[in-house]
Amino acid sequence: MLDLAIRNAQIVTAADRYVADIGIRDGRIVEIAERVGEAREEIDATGLWAMPGGIDAHVHLAQPQGGGVVMADDFETGTRSAAAGGNTTVLPFALQQKGQTLREAVQAYHEQAEGKCHVDVSFHLIITDPTPQVLGQELPALIKDGYTSFKVFMTYDDMILNDAELLEVFDTAQREKALVMVHAEGHDAIKFMTRKLEEAGRTAPYYHAISHSAVAEREATHRAISHAELTDVPIVIVHVSGREPMEQIQWAKRRGRRIFAETCPQYIALTRDDLKGLNMDFSGAKYVCSPPPRDTDSQAAIWEGLRDGTFDIFSSDHCPFRYEDPAGKDVKGARTSFKWVPNGIPGVAARLPVLFSEGVSKGRISAERFVALTASNPAKLYGLYPKKGTIAIGSDADIALWDPEIETTITQDKMHHGCDYTPYEGMSVKGWPVRTILRGRTVAADFEVTGTAADGQYLPRKISGEAFPG
Ligand code: URP
Ligand code: ZN
Ligand code: ZN
Ligand code: ZN
Repeated sequence: MLDLAIRNAQIVTAADRYVADIGIRDGRIVEIAERVGEAREEIDATGLWAMPGGIDAHVHLAQPQGGGVVMADDFETGTRSAAAGGNTTVLPFALQQKGQTLREAVQAYHEQAEGKCHVDVSFHLIITDPTPQVLGQELPALIKDGYTSFKVFMTYDDMILNDAELLEVFDTAQREKALVMVHAEGHDAIKFMTRKLEEAGRTAPYYHAISHSAVAEREATHRAISHAELTDVPIVIVHVSGREPMEQIQWAKRRGRRIFAETCPQYIALTRDDLKGLNMDFSGAKYVCSPPPRDTDSQAAIWEGLRDGTFDIFSSDHCPFRYEDPAGKDVKGARTSFKWVPNGIPGVAARLPVLFSEGVSKGRISAERFVALTASNPAKLYGLYPKKGTIAIGSDADIALWDPEIETTITQDKMHHGCDYTPYEGMSVKGWPVRTILRGRTVAADFEVTGTAADGQYLPRKISGEAFPG
């Protein structure tokens, strides 16, 4: 007897599509056949597509921000939003604060996440204080415990690593087989532009997009790739916004370097004009993220890159801040300069519908490529495959059932997040994940979240098989 039979779905993986039944027992897929046996629960999925549950490999939850600003999503609301948007696994960050050990950082996030997750979760680290002790002892121990990837920043006053530190970190990652995610934007170029703009009285949120130039992103991308070549380490360039950094990544890939790349929904569905708000008012702050959305030529470049393999993964970079704080102190809204607007926008629920609608429904990418970018490749890159990221015998029964024909609109109430807005409000989409199944249990259906915050589990991860083959 099966626990669950999903009947007559079109199964879509990164490799093929075919109509079959899926049989699930004890949270795993145990049968795929024209007709599987009897089950306690049956779902007639005729006309629906069964895709691997989304894996969002880049989300920020419950991360403290400078100035006492609190992120809009904790683990409960962030993973609830993830489930609503067809995801079954998310990879948030455990941020090391300066002076903190990595173990203390990880412990703090485990305490916040424990019993508070609607979907499965695994942490990347963020390293801000790469002392010899951190790189020599702490990091190797944590990698052995399944924290096999971490992010570093080339900008932000409180997180930046200089070139000497980046080289030491990359060298350690090479030795320990850890995968480094790089936020590549040139700090001094951003600070220089910010000062020039403020001196000219240009302080509206729109000027955030001008201060974080594509040139600064290109330069830092090239520098990160060069440091990775010198230390012979694979890296991931995260949240790539357009053509200029892409050309650096393509140059490196052509030369056989193991440089992986990620892009996000804001770079296909938004432009810098969104930061203008209404006549350059402060509502443009709702679109402030780094790197910022660029222009329609950049969007076209991103689509080329999603098709041709420049991009390996598509994540949300969900980093939610309220426009208006419930305590009455505006977080994004009532600031005097773009310089004070916290960087980041929500997107964990919108990521898959935006890419499905703009990509698959509009014929820009295949359904198989969609699965590769949003589930299979993230699982392979970050050491979760084949437990996660595919529909196969033995894999966890993490499945999103998609209605490819449904036409709807992205609205705040469909996001189920803790943020008070979505930057994609009013966007028409075709296709929606109408049911999210986590290890055989339905956790979201028909635009509502039906699971609980006890459904998710923590996932230790293997060394990246993609970055360190063999
Ligand atoms: O603006 C962004 N992306 N904020 C989130 C932190 C990061 O750099 O990913
Ligand atoms: Zn970043
Ligand atoms: Zn991020
Ligand atoms: Zn609801």
